[in-house]
Amino acid sequence: MKRIAFFPGTFDPFTKGHEDIAIRGTQLFDEVIIGIGHNSKKKRFFPAEKMKDLIELHFENNPQVKVILYQGLTAKVAKDLGACVLLRGLRNTTDFEYENSIAQANRYVNGIDTVFIYTSPEYSHLSSSIIRELHKFGHDVGEFVPFHLKEGI
Ligand code: COA
Repeated sequence: MKRIAFFPGTFDPFTKGHEDIAIRGTQLFDEVIIGIGHNSKKKRFFPAEKMKDLIELHFENNPQVKVILYQGLTAKVAKDLGACVLLRGLRNTTDFEYENSIAQANRYVNGIDTVFIYTSPEYSHLSSSIIRELHKFGHDVGEFVPFHLKEGI
């Protein structure tokens, strides 16, 4: 049976740190499904559909990576997709505190476990909000994002 990992996030935008987690995930699982979900505490800057297209194009030659947009509870969507685990990256102790409670909540929903991969050190300082801020002020963020982000998207 195919072992699928569901990698959820806001991905606003998808960064080289996220790419690193997705690729390393494919070494552990048969398939990694990147799920662009909705965090009720965050307002998006980059349209989710556009981000999906960019990530899909980036992985077009990697049949182990799929991308979806989703609504609703992450744990439920993961189970509906046949995923055996959720996949998340961990950068530091702040992430650990945050991820700990989310992982418990997701396990409470339907028993799904979360597998964490430590972010490679060269990406551990990256966050989508910092990249968004730099991009908004017209700074080239090409070294942090695995594809070109046009101005205004
Ligand atoms: N490299 C770079 N950045 C990383 C990273 C890595 N390896 N790992 C985490 N991050 C950053 C992200 O860029 C993001 O940065 P930002 O806050 O500056 O934007 C931050 O860490 C974490 O955000 P993200 O990964 O997008 O997830 P999130 O915490 O916003 O959660 C959902 C998004 C959609 C997964 C979550 O809100 C969710 O599950 N929503 C549905 C409702 C639900 O089921 N809730 C859980 C049960 S209560």
